Amino acid sequence: MSESIKTVLPESEIPRHWYNINADLPEPMAPVLHPVTHQPVGPSDLAPLFPQAVIEQEMSTEREVEIPEPVRDAYRQWRPSPLYRARRLEKALGTPARIYYKYEGVSPAGSHKPNTAVAQAFYNKAEGVKRITTETGAGQWGSSLALAGAMFELDIEVFMVKVSFNQKPYRRAFMESFGASCVASPSNVTEAGRAVLAQDPESTGSLGIAISEAVELAAQRDDTKYALGSVLNHVLLHQTVSGLETMRQLEQLDDYPDKIIGCTGGGSNFAGLAFPFLGERLRGGPATEFIAVEPASCPTLTKGRFAYDWGDTSHLTPLTKMHTLGSGFVPPGFHAGGLRYHGMAPQISHLTELGYIHPRAYGQLECFDAGLTFARAEGIIPAPEANHAVKATIDAALACRESGESKALLFNLCGHGHFDMQAYTDYLAGNLKEEAPSAAEQSMALAGLPTI
Ligand SMILES: Cc1ncc(COP(=O)(O)O)c(C=O)c1O
Repeated sequence: MSESIKTVLPESEIPRHWYNINADLPEPMAPVLHPVTHQPVGPSDLAPLFPQAVIEQEMSTEREVEIPEPVRDAYRQWRPSPLYRARRLEKALGTPARIYYKYEGVSPAGSHKPNTAVAQAFYNKAEGVKRITTETGAGQWGSSLALAGAMFELDIEVFMVKVSFNQKPYRRAFMESFGASCVASPSNVTEAGRAVLAQDPESTGSLGIAISEAVELAAQRDDTKYALGSVLNHVLLHQTVSGLETMRQLEQLDDYPDKIIGCTGGGSNFAGLAFPFLGERLRGGPATEFIAVEPASCPTLTKGRFAYDWGDTSHLTPLTKMHTLGSGFVPPGFHAGGLRYHGMAPQISHLTELGYIHPRAYGQLECFDAGLTFARAEGIIPAPEANHAVKATIDAALACRESGESKALLFNLCGHGHFDMQAYTDYLAGNLKEEAPSAAEQSMALAGLPTI
């Protein structure tokens, strides 16, 4: 086997299609329901929010969806992203495991999120949309859409969860540098925001609240649509560009993963890396294990219920069947802001229920500890979200050390942590603590699930 560290493909090998796992599901997913009628939604129900091409992708069962040339061209600014063999980490851990990571922090916004941002911006632009509203948790998604807005000449308006807005002032500056506007959510700009502030003026916000604000604005104007950075089928579809590249890179190395690991907020970076491989497994390929890692403070897959729920707090969105903590759930203000969503991608929930994905939850302290072990060996400081995947990978590598097995472990290093140094400062100073939601808080939020 090659002794190289990085496997880098030429621009000509950027995939020409995304992979759609709906084509290979062993059982169909539950339909998406209208929030008022509780009947399955059709394309016209989604038209006020999304462009037609995106709605078609949301409902498509085609295995391959063509990546438009202007999107491939935008991808060329940072894709194909490198696949690393973590030789230094392997040595530091004394493990016989072969550890690989796909590094999505090379994108201009520093994470995997531009993979779908440029695609969504392209489709909106092509259909004459002038403005896109959105929410952002950690600021990675807002930054990515701001970048895509500059590339495709669209106005971008971002509602940023207040706890992150305060933790990461540079994210706002980043978005504004690309010409976007960024407001702390809950805000006074929308009815949804004002209603939350009336109840709790100190609210630190949540993705569910920020989504309500962005959706409310988009529904008010014909020239404005809404974009979501995770959860929905079309977002996971766009992210598969990363898993498809990884397949080619591993082919060159003549290797195949035994375990694929990703952190899960709404599920998009995990799905982007895992789904092309999971599709192979569903079509009779190797029995790779798929591990989705979430924070113990927002344990959607491990402690949530698989049920119909709203995607937002004000109940403006359709109902999807997913693992959820309840749309009223507000997680504590822990430092992996991108993992603070109450629900999970329906495709990931469905495949978890079917037994193909194994979820796991970790506390933030052990994740930062793993992130520093990784950084000191590999020289890259991971985003706090990515530290969850790092932690699970290190655990798997240490298990290999115990058993003496040389397994191939692949994880998504979905972003760097250069905008998250306050989190590392707090961790290094011993100022971070674990804040898991109480059983009472969890059952209160679940009591608000709709009856279907
Ligand atoms: C670096 C990073 N990783 C992970 C996530 C979680 O999102 P997802 O599960 O869709 O990848 C986010 C969300 O903002 C993020 O910024």
